[in-house]
Amino acid sequence: MSIQTPRIVILTGAGVSAESGMGTFRDKDGLWTKYDLEDVATPEGFARNPALVHAFYNERRRLLHQGEPNQAHFALAELEQRLPGEILIVTQNIDNLHEKAGSKNVLHMHGELLKSRCEKCGEERHCPDDLSTDRACPACGHIGGMRPAVVWFGEMPLHMEQIDDALAGAEQFVSIGTSGQVYPAAGYVQIARTIGLRTLELNLEATSSYFDAGRYGPATEIVPAWVKELIS
Ligand code: APR
Repeated sequence: MSIQTPRIVILTGAGVSAESGMGTFRDKDGLWTKYDLEDVATPEGFARNPALVHAFYNERRRLLHQGEPNQAHFALAELEQRLPGEILIVTQNIDNLHEKAGSKNVLHMHGELLKSRCEKCGEERHCPDDLSTDRACPACGHIGGMRPAVVWFGEMPLHMEQIDDALAGAEQFVSIGTSGQVYPAAGYVQIARTIGLRTLELNLEATSSYFDAGRYGPATEIVPAWVKELIS
């Protein structure tokens, strides 16, 4: 996908999918209160116990199949439709709810849950069902090397250059549903401020004083309200 220089770069995190039942990571009952991220979201954890990692992502993949986009996802898709070529969503989420709601310009900087990758040949394929240690790569036939095509801690996020280029040419940076704890995503608001973009946070609670403005509440309420103002 070739992204012209969008006018508004929107960063989303788990909070935008929370009301679709996807759960978050650092809220009181978040995923990192149930699993040790070292065990399920690092290359070392996968090498140590691949079956546990597959079980973790298989559970999230099954949850995703039951999940539907919420009003925040639909509002962002409508914003892109009404302002063609002006909106880029950079999501930290590995779900496909932005796309299911109709958004087209979406960059998954932490990869995608519905994609697998072979550790031997690198082939990536659509992967709607469970992965396991005895799955053979559909491309090279290697068994034991299939993993979710997601970015683990210690691995390089995706599309970094494209995201930097988009920020460099944008007018506004909007952060939705993220705690701003994980870099490089957490650093985008500082970059935006430094290069003179207007910055806005839409979240359940304030996370940083770097934002020029903030609106707080459930994403299904505050995102549609913000979009409605923008397009009216
Ligand atoms: N509406 C709006 N915001 C919400 C809602 C909601 N219904 N529910 C939760 N939030 C907010 C929380 O207040 C919090 O600030 O969403 C944020 C979720 O933060 P995290 O759980 O840390 O998720 P995220 O910021 O996306 O994590 C970033 O960390 O573990 C890695 O790779 C993982 O992509 C993830 C990254």
